[in-house]
Amino acid sequence: MGRAGFLLLYLPMSMLCVCAVVAAQAPLDPIASYRTWKKVNAKPIYMEPAVAAACLPRPIAVSSKDNPHVPTYFTVYVNATGERAMLSSEPVKLPAGSIVVKEKRVGSPDAKVKLLTVLIKRQRGYATANGDWQYLVVDGTDLSHRTTDHLEHCKSCHAEQKKDDYLFRDYLPGRVGTSR
Ligand code: HEC
Repeated sequence: MGRAGFLLLYLPMSMLCVCAVVAAQAPLDPIASYRTWKKVNAKPIYMEPAVAAACLPRPIAVSSKDNPHVPTYFTVYVNATGERAMLSSEPVKLPAGSIVVKEKRVGSPDAKVKLLTVLIKRQRGYATANGDWQYLVVDGTDLSHRTTDHLEHCKSCHAEQKKDDYLFRDYLPGRVGTSR
């Protein structure tokens, strides 16, 4: 094959490969890479059963037979956009584009991740009564399986924290347990 023929064949092929690699490294879904973000609490923290029971796609009553007393543990992650504000010890307001993920494991701190509850800070005006946060629940093993529907109950609890941009942040190093 002549030089021109080689270039004609090789260049488009190599460009295809580069594109495929870039696509694989930069998934469009921002949540997919949450494990690479800043971990806010270094080790999974035990969750109060009442919170564990309510922090679900559909809340269950604590007295229900779906036993909410199975110990649940959480770890919180924040993306680079929200990191600085999230780690501040002062009351905060996170910038648009911030994402906070709360990862939940059921049974033991080493169990596989069952569920993610997620807060995404949207543009100003997205939900003014609620700090412009979007609430999501995501399957821990299949991150593409997620819902934003019927999550009004999420907001009722987080509204108590309006003064701190609707965040609890009681798991920050040095603050664990202070609001319980
Ligand atoms: C019963 C009250 C309650 C409800 C309802 C609730 N949460 Fe929470 N949430 C909390 C508390 C308390 C924390 C702090 C961590 C902890 O103690 O478990 C928290 C923490 C979080 C965090 C970490 C950021 C922060 O606020 O510090 C996210 C993300 C989150 N919740 C998402 C959700 C989503 C999504 C829903 C609805 C599916 C929801 N929550 C429903 C009480 C609640």
